Amino acid sequence: RKIYMITPTKTRAEQIPDLTRLAQTLYLIPNLFWIVVEDEPQTTLRLRRLLQSFNLPFIHLNIATPDYLKPTQNQSTWRRPRGVFQKNIGLQWLRTNTNKNEDALVYFADDDNTYHWKLFQEIRKVQSVGVWPVGLVGELLYERPICLNGRVHSWFHYMYRKRKFATDMAGFAIHLRLIHHYSTYVFNVSATSIAEQESQILNTMTTIDQLECLANNATKIYVWHTKTQSTFLTSIEKLRNAGMKYDLLNQL
Ligand code: UGA
Ligand code: MN
Repeated sequence: RKIYMITPTKTRAEQIPDLTRLAQTLYLIPNLFWIVVEDEPQTTLRLRRLLQSFNLPFIHLNIATPDYLKPTQNQSTWRRPRGVFQKNIGLQWLRTNTNKNEDALVYFADDDNTYHWKLFQEIRKVQSVGVWPVGLVGELLYERPICLNGRVHSWFHYMYRKRKFATDMAGFAIHLRLIHHYSTYVFNVSATSIAEQESQILNTMTTIDQLECLANNATKIYVWHTKTQSTFLTSIEKLRNAGMKYDLLNQL
């Protein structure tokens, strides 16, 4: 069974190293198709080169998050949509490029998380919608569904207690059939939906009692919501004042 994995990715100094790690993880995973959606008005050569340097099946798409929704320099990214437009492009691509009868799974994988290869074995067990623990998220060592006999009883979580489905994006996978069936579903871009993206899609496509608990009845952590610290960089202007400039090395 194929896994379609949608990865939104924004431009930043750590983007190429983060995606290098992720691409190398994907080398361990058979039968996975990677949908990479770049947050840019055009796809960039540097990302295309990176993707082409791996022998992985992929499609490289793009859409820019509109400027008015991007955080300004002093604002945190907290209340802004992160990768929402890009995930919607991924959904649209699936609906036009896959057969609605295909027996395949869809997983949303941010570019900075850490994925154990066994996670993908769990994803392949999903019949409709599967859920599992996610490490290092929501100000906890992990958030997880608490499961009884393979079904979700409640959620172990601390932040945003009102969430109906208290899971991170990394904590579930959906059968492709549901993406086709709910053919108009898109992630909501408004600020009111912060931390609600996961609950919104799950609330549309499934119910709590239909969820399948994976990863040994949700007792094993196979994915971590890690964040790469952004590196402090001396500004181009200061470098220029010091009589220095960069050569264009970054292109593999
Ligand atoms: C958390 C969740 O893990 C995300 O799945 C969810 O979309 C996000 O919160 C949210 O609720 O908005 P977090 O680690 O806080 O994610 O956010 P990032 O890792 O900064 O962004 C998630 C993904 O979207 C990354 O792959 C990132 O490269 C991409 N992104 C982020 C964009 O494409 N554009 C942006 O402007 C920001
Ligand atoms: Mn992240």
